[in-house]
Amino acid sequence: MPTLYEPAQFGKIEVKNRIFLAPLTRNRSKPDFSPSDLAPEYYSQRASGGLLITEASQISPEGIGYINTPGIYNEAQVAGWKKVTDAVHAKGGKIFIQLWHVGRISHTSLLPNGQAPLAPSALRAKSQTFVGDAGMVDVSEPKAMSLEDIARTIADYKHAAECAKKAGFDGVEIHAANGYLIDQFLMDGSNQRTDQYGGPIENRFRFLREVLNMVLSVWDAGEVGIRLSPTGKFNDMSDTKRLSTFSYVVEQLNAFNLAYLHFVETFPGMQNTDEEQNIIEALIKKWTGFYIANGGYEKENAESAIISGKADAIAFGRSFLANPDLPKRLELGVALNDPDQSTFYGGGAEGYTDYPTWDQKKAA
Ligand code: PHB
Repeated sequence: MPTLYEPAQFGKIEVKNRIFLAPLTRNRSKPDFSPSDLAPEYYSQRASGGLLITEASQISPEGIGYINTPGIYNEAQVAGWKKVTDAVHAKGGKIFIQLWHVGRISHTSLLPNGQAPLAPSALRAKSQTFVGDAGMVDVSEPKAMSLEDIARTIADYKHAAECAKKAGFDGVEIHAANGYLIDQFLMDGSNQRTDQYGGPIENRFRFLREVLNMVLSVWDAGEVGIRLSPTGKFNDMSDTKRLSTFSYVVEQLNAFNLAYLHFVETFPGMQNTDEEQNIIEALIKKWTGFYIANGGYEKENAESAIISGKADAIAFGRSFLANPDLPKRLELGVALNDPDQSTFYGGGAEGYTDYPTWDQKKAA
């Protein structure tokens, strides 16, 4: 088996090591939802990671759920992201953009004409979102999507996939995790539809299948990854049969020959029960392609996950946020900068582009 520090290939992509940047919401976009002027620097500082996955980026004005998250659906956004991909490529990095629709995890104040958030069913999540001056607020009551809403949203995925291509990304990651729109269709706690998009998992999977087919009309399967959180409870998620639900999902996904499958194995600050851990491990065994693990990994368990063959790469969130040279630091086994939670969401350079590298720290 290879080590964490060795190259890998998945789909059409070759990467120099197996230390990836996890998608991280940073809420620093411009008012037109194009990425911040500092985003090229932020991402390219981390270009020594094998693959960078961008922060979740909404596919349409209807897909937004938090203040100042970037989009990937218009020319200004494409131009802003092109500066990011150029900066990362100039340093020899690879970068995928994460395509996001929040579904019911939104608030009318963020949405076009104050409309209700879209969701499979009109079930309000016990969850909150950040809207700006008013701070954290309860998410709004969603509207159950009509067939027209579904068709329009699937077309929005295609448009966003095209925009991502124009912006120079190496590929796209479909965000199907963490209680956002696609996950809301998959899990039965949030999908109580009685039409062809609800009921048995064969029907609940239909929305994701249609999204995948649309994105695959733009990108090669080897350039498309997907992120799932089969044991996730964040954003009020529940499913009565998680193992069988996600076994079906993983088996169906196998047939698409995607670039990779990426699991949120645990959320920061949470720990899986034994039962949840067993679900994750059973699902990883079912997957036949390249697997990216995420959640609670540090040097030691990341190295052993790769050497044992449990994972093909590890996505690091908070530690890569706070250590732009994380691959080097892990390999040297030196101390890491601590992430500053107060600068995660919103603001400027502080806590974004000003974390020192190991070399800068030694020189200081
Ligand atoms: C968040 O903004 O809190 C957030 C966004 C995307 C995720 C998870 C959390 O997948």
